[in-house]
Amino acid sequence: MTERFITSTLNRRDAVKEASLRPPSFSEFPGQERVKEQLELFVQAAKARDEALDHILLSGPPGLGKTTLAYIIANERGTNLKSSSGPAIEKPGDLAGLLTSLEPGDVLFIDEIHRLSTTVEEYLYSAMEDFFIDIMLEQGAGARSVRLSVPRFTLIGATTRQGMISAPLRARFGLNIRLDYYDTPHLCAILTRSADILGVEIEPAGAEVIASRCRGTPRIANNLLRRARDYAQIKADSVITGKVAEAALAMLQIDTDGLDEMDLRILDVICSNFRGGPVGLKNIAVSVGEEEEAIEDVYEPFLIQRGYLTRTSKGRVATPKAWQKLGIEKTLDAGELF
Ligand SMILES: Nc1ncnc2c1ncn2[C@@H]1O[C@H](COP(=O)(O)OP(=O)(O)OP(=O)(O)O)[C@@H](O)[C@H]1O
Ligand SMILES: [Mg+2]
Repeated sequence: MTERFITSTLNRRDAVKEASLRPPSFSEFPGQERVKEQLELFVQAAKARDEALDHILLSGPPGLGKTTLAYIIANERGTNLKSSSGPAIEKPGDLAGLLTSLEPGDVLFIDEIHRLSTTVEEYLYSAMEDFFIDIMLEQGAGARSVRLSVPRFTLIGATTRQGMISAPLRARFGLNIRLDYYDTPHLCAILTRSADILGVEIEPAGAEVIASRCRGTPRIANNLLRRARDYAQIKADSVITGKVAEAALAMLQIDTDGLDEMDLRILDVICSNFRGGPVGLKNIAVSVGEEEEAIEDVYEPFLIQRGYLTRTSKGRVATPKAWQKLGIEKTLDAGELF
């Protein structure tokens, strides 16, 4: 596995640091302009009608701001947010406990909603749609069900796996929002804001270097900013200039296109071991020693977006850009020569 900070998995300490960089309002959240516009309108309309917001599904690769947006939505609507996650809600009783603890209008945020068990998911349907939940008390002969009413709440679900959300669940969300990778100017704005909060001096050229090499992902941008700060403190005058940023990223083995070691390994496996594909996800995962889920959620979307990979019905195929990146010539099959 490559160094974990490059990907988007967080340990506890990182999560605390990350929370301090989380923008509290739409106006402090650079990027995702269309999404923001849509959500702001949605919140304003619900506010004007004094109604709870309709349920919202946020999907997209890790580190792009799904959790942040959930908090912003609750904040701007002026309600509380209660947070849980798919794997944490093990039994229908856990869900009932969560739902009945809500005040009218509250937001229930369920992260990794694609990992809810099917049973819990089915209980969620009636809660989302009709604001009640039927809970079975006791097992066997004495079993009886009790109907609990649930306050009008807003469910905000977040997922890195839009495709794993069942159709009935998806249909119960009033708004289905998809986040995409950020462009360099927005990432520069995020970095400048974060540097300000962290008390780090960064020159525009330094921000530009980090922004163009963070896989279009604010979480990675912020992590690289911290590493560049360390580097600047020890090796330069604590100022992140373009040169300092370049040197810090080179030390972290992040190449000039922002690909990390695992991205390159994936491309290398596809080109060197499978002649550029098509190759199935399982084969790639085994060859690079990474979980299929991580490849599908974290690496592949970025490689596809940047034009290194394509997905076909037969599997993943490396593009000419990938061969070029690796600096190797594509060898042709005999069949391909004629
Ligand atoms: N538009 C943005 N502006 C400023 N900071 C941002 C923005 N989007 C994300 N961030 C920062 O990036 C970090 C990760 O964001 P967040 O936790 O919301 O991502 P996520 O999509 O929920 O990721 P995951 O799928 O891993 O849960 C946070 O520290 C947050 O402050
Ligand atoms: Mg999150």
